[in-house]
Amino acid sequence: MVDQVRPGIVLDYTGMMQSSQNMKGFSNSELKDLQAVLDAAQTSLDKRREAGELDFSRLLPSMKSQLAEIIEYANQAALKFENFVVLGIGGSALGPMAVHQALNHYYYNELPPERRGHRPRLYVVDNIDPMRFHELLHILDPHKTLFNVISKSGNTSETMAQFMIIRDILRRECGDHYTKHIVVTTDKEKGNLLPIALKEGFQRFVIPSAIGGRFSELTPVGLLAAAICGIDVNQLLEGALEMDQRIRETKGVFSNPAQLRSALALLSWRKGKNISVLMPYADGLKTIADWYAQLWAESLGKRLDRQGCVVQLGQTPVKALGVTDQHSQVQLYVEGPDDKTIAFVTVGKFREDQEIPSDIGELPEDIQFLGGRTLAELLIAEQKATEYALTLAGRQHQKIVLPSLDAFHIGQLLVMLEWETAYMGELLNINAFDQPGVEEGKIGTYALMGRKGYEARRQEIEEYGNTRYLLQRK
Ligand code: PA5
Repeated sequence: MVDQVRPGIVLDYTGMMQSSQNMKGFSNSELKDLQAVLDAAQTSLDKRREAGELDFSRLLPSMKSQLAEIIEYANQAALKFENFVVLGIGGSALGPMAVHQALNHYYYNELPPERRGHRPRLYVVDNIDPMRFHELLHILDPHKTLFNVISKSGNTSETMAQFMIIRDILRRECGDHYTKHIVVTTDKEKGNLLPIALKEGFQRFVIPSAIGGRFSELTPVGLLAAAICGIDVNQLLEGALEMDQRIRETKGVFSNPAQLRSALALLSWRKGKNISVLMPYADGLKTIADWYAQLWAESLGKRLDRQGCVVQLGQTPVKALGVTDQHSQVQLYVEGPDDKTIAFVTVGKFREDQEIPSDIGELPEDIQFLGGRTLAELLIAEQKATEYALTLAGRQHQKIVLPSLDAFHIGQLLVMLEWETAYMGELLNINAFDQPGVEEGKIGTYALMGRKGYEARRQEIEEYGNTRYLLQRK
């Protein structure tokens, strides 16, 4: 059972389906029986899109028209700066990291400038680990660095704190020119970053208001970093638009990739598979798994359904990397609790391959079978072997096959994963586009750090901290 997502991505869901080796798999009729709810989800998503709730899809064509401005700015910046640093967190950081890792040289920052096409090095600083931040400042020359502050809300403590530190350093080091070292990506109307950007005169890019952080990679949030680092953003958006159109216009679970993936996720979840593993077999896709984990977790992990009833739903996303995690997590997947589905992501053709020498007569016979083969062949064999081991153990799995790691197919992949998340929100009857659980943490941080208006919450948290159970040496 192979669904051709043309041109490009192939979904191979054989391992999810019933077979002589896996009687516990799903049947075609189980998928067909979901068609009515999938059609209802499609109608509802169409309406939401028209109402401006699904702007990650609705505004894709307009992103294409903004590309010229983004590319122009990126090309100018590449002439002036040696480093480009993204300051952002969550949806404002994971996308830029994911696309860069998937499409650029693995050791991009270490390459000499001419092998980077004279594009700046890229650093994405999401966490606020003080040591990492401090040590990054050791290696950056502020005069040669452009900082992209990305925050949809313009209020996130982590990003604002980083911004304040950088602004201070730049003002001291670069004098009046400091404003040329900061580019802000934020909402058009809301948040604290916007008035600062306007007052101080920073270059500004807009995150459309109805696009949440985790759905924002194909807006200036991700497109600017990608363009700065020489990624073909036109192709990225081409792939995204192609997939978007296909998902909106195709009917039927056996043809529409988002319907198929969400239907399989729903059936799995109903069977008690509370864990969804995404396991790419390419280091370049490891951060896509991070990005996807946020998308799936933050969109679908919800306490209330759309009617306000307590449902506490969600499937825990797990990131794994093939083959690394074959030597770590796969033991659990094959023999542990049957509570997971595993989605492999494989690459048809790698940018580079490495041959294993064949002239190895002097080496022990037991390793000679590797001689003359390539690392890509070994990787593919390991993925197939893992797939088969899971099948023998009656564990369900599927495969997303990218013909190659290029901008077009990464664009397709991102949009397919966004749409399937939106579908899953409909199927579970929850709002996939808010994140009240994250907001609680942000509010608690404001309170503890002394933001005005949050005094009562601060008191609550401090009182909660009065009783502690600690084991420590006396
Ligand atoms: O997906 C989301 O909405 C969140 O993960 C946000 O991206 C994250 O909390 C950062 O928020 P902001 O971009 O407003 O600083």
